[in-house]
Amino acid sequence: MSQEFTDYVITSMGPKTSPKARRILSSLIQHVHDFTRENNITVDEWMYGVELINSIGQISDAKRNEGILVSDVIGLEALVDTLTHSSDTADHTSSAIVGPFYRDGSPEYPKGASIIQKDVGGEKTLVSGRIMDTNGNPLAGVKLEVWHCAPNGLYEQQDPDQPEYNLRGTFFSDDDGYYAFVGLRPTAYPIPYDGPAGKLLQIMDRHPMRPGHIHWRVTHPDYHSLITQIYDRECKYTEDDSVFAVKEDIIVDFVPAKKDLAEKGIKNELHYDIVLTLESKIQESRQKIKDAQDALEQKLMEKHSAAPNGTRAAAS
Ligand SMILES: [Fe+2]
Repeated sequence: MSQEFTDYVITSMGPKTSPKARRILSSLIQHVHDFTRENNITVDEWMYGVELINSIGQISDAKRNEGILVSDVIGLEALVDTLTHSSDTADHTSSAIVGPFYRDGSPEYPKGASIIQKDVGGEKTLVSGRIMDTNGNPLAGVKLEVWHCAPNGLYEQQDPDQPEYNLRGTFFSDDDGYYAFVGLRPTAYPIPYDGPAGKLLQIMDRHPMRPGHIHWRVTHPDYHSLITQIYDRECKYTEDDSVFAVKEDIIVDFVPAKKDLAEKGIKNELHYDIVLTLESKIQESRQKIKDAQDALEQKLMEKHSAAPNGTRAAAS
């Protein structure tokens, strides 16, 4: 079927469709039709895809988000993350994907406290640093949520042997922008591969491993929220991440803990500063994209108003 058919489907949207929905769905339908034509998709192949999408929903629940996992293994979340958080200024800490294991409401701890609720092995590590703006001024009262998996490769919600919210915590930077917490040196782990994401990995002849990392969500009312991860330079999967989320400036170096800390059972230290950028600055840099989108939406609306049934009539 030709482009006329695709136009017919796109123009079948009614007048109540919002400009944004019209723009995004028009583009989606165009790309899906082009993909289908380019690959001469058969009914059997289409049904395979339908069943794969159905299985993503069937295996998902409150503790497992297969939609995110499938997005991750095809690099979609990494792409969306970069598009969402990129700006003309590269002077703030890079974002990284949120991943499927974030949980809201982790316990709030004072500066320097441990997020290890139960001994699950691993190397205790003191993580500390300063949160600053792009001019190097310290930012007080910044909310910092951190989470990482246990050495068995499981996050607490995947593991009945870990207490609720183990290896997760919420902290606030002090008056001079400093934060600190004790966690574990992160472990490489496989993303769950017993479902559709694993099936896709198998088809693509790829491994499911993610490099050892700690997740961060850093928020302040005036600053652009930062969701990121830090990666252990010494982990071999930092060079070969199954979900394509590693960026150079968020690869970090763990160093052996100083004597006083080592005496308290802490093995490593990580110093990591975080730079946030003003939300207004990000919005400014996104304005060009927004202007182009607005212009396209206007054009599509005008096209629809001028000939709401024209293409339908032509294609029928
Ligand atoms: Fe993770």
